[in-house]
Amino acid sequence: MSRLTVLCVASYFKGTRFIEECHHQGCRVFLLTRPDLADHPWPRECLEEVFFLPEVVSRDEAIKAVSFLARNHELDRIVPLDDYDVELAAAMREHMRLPGMGDTTARFFRDKLAMRVQCRQAGICCPRFEHVLNHGRLHRFMEEVPGPWVLKPRSEAGAVGIRRVQEPSAFWDLVETLADQQSHYLLEEFVTGPVFHVDSLVWEGEVVFAVAHRYLRPPFEVWNHGGVFGTRTVTPTSPLQADLLQANHRVLGAMGLVRGATHAEFIQSEKDGRLHFLEVAARVGGAHIDDLVEACTGVNLWQEWARIELASARREDYQIPGARHDCGGLMICLARQETPDLAGFDAPEVVWKLNRTHHAGLILSSPDCQRVESLFSGYVGRFERDFLAVCPPTDKPLA
Ligand SMILES: Nc1ncnc2c1ncn2[C@@H]1O[C@H](COP(=O)(O)OP(=O)(O)O)[C@@H](O)[C@H]1O
Ligand SMILES: [Mg+2]
Repeated sequence: MSRLTVLCVASYFKGTRFIEECHHQGCRVFLLTRPDLADHPWPRECLEEVFFLPEVVSRDEAIKAVSFLARNHELDRIVPLDDYDVELAAAMREHMRLPGMGDTTARFFRDKLAMRVQCRQAGICCPRFEHVLNHGRLHRFMEEVPGPWVLKPRSEAGAVGIRRVQEPSAFWDLVETLADQQSHYLLEEFVTGPVFHVDSLVWEGEVVFAVAHRYLRPPFEVWNHGGVFGTRTVTPTSPLQADLLQANHRVLGAMGLVRGATHAEFIQSEKDGRLHFLEVAARVGGAHIDDLVEACTGVNLWQEWARIELASARREDYQIPGARHDCGGLMICLARQETPDLAGFDAPEVVWKLNRTHHAGLILSSPDCQRVESLFSGYVGRFERDFLAVCPPTDKPLA
């Protein structure tokens, strides 16, 4: 078979393991990224060439750029490495009639209104919601569904632009400021409770790997009030892990994903204990969740995603490697110190430490979930005391 050519699109620095796996499998790999990411440690030895497009270019210009590239190279696959690239990659595939997710499916993974509507149709439990479109319907929604509510942009990530509102008047004030952008938002009930994420791999419509974790605190709180970002494995043998995997399975089925890596989130309502679907993305989870998943299962989501894409392109079969079912915990925070000293975090369960200035982070892993849980809470307390710096919220995503 001739050499496969893969174009990776990345508006963030991530996915190096994906690029490396494609290269190791003999593919020609091109990277399309932003000029300001040029100096990041991309695995240049695995890349045929790197192209740059400014962030601000329109979809039409991006399609022109990739079509220009295709004059001299036969592209087999286009793969978006970040959430923001999912729609652009789909538009490029549609234009060039390449296999992979097209516009319709991509929309379910980027547009929070589209995913809500699709889930409701499939009978999946989710927060009650209303599109910020018809003002009469919005009035009725706030009468019927008790507050507080969240007003959120349909196509952002990392808790950007999400506002919690308590009173209808506060909602209308915000809507006023949104002016003609308001229909790019949705309003939904605020569901109080712990937030979970399920990270999975899909091969030919089947979820072949999935694991559920619980965030230390809801991401919205971390984003607004600062604090340690943390997450740990839901006990693999627990009914809750099984329920989360089942909910994830239903969501991915409803969205019609054929193959790839996914990151879905659920809130367990404090009121009735039910899992409410929050959102789903067609990408590997950010904020070092890939490292956490690898630590507790042995599966690297980026590498397996690359294997899935290439097996599909070659019409070969794909087998997920056997996974462990250990428990893991991840914690990261902004640090007051330039190079925080993590030497004292020396339990044998510490399998990874973050190496980044003004950040502290580590990953725990063990077959003993109780041990992980007790170490995790102790270490989070120490992170808060020893390192945590609090910064005001920004409009940049969390991860
Ligand atoms: N309906 C909701 N009820 C309660 N909290 C919510 C709701 N929607 C969002 N949040 C909070 O905001 C965070 C970000 O929302 P999400 O829909 O996941 O968008 P993003 O793409 O920015 O991650 C969630 O992790 C959760 O903490
Ligand atoms: Mg989210």
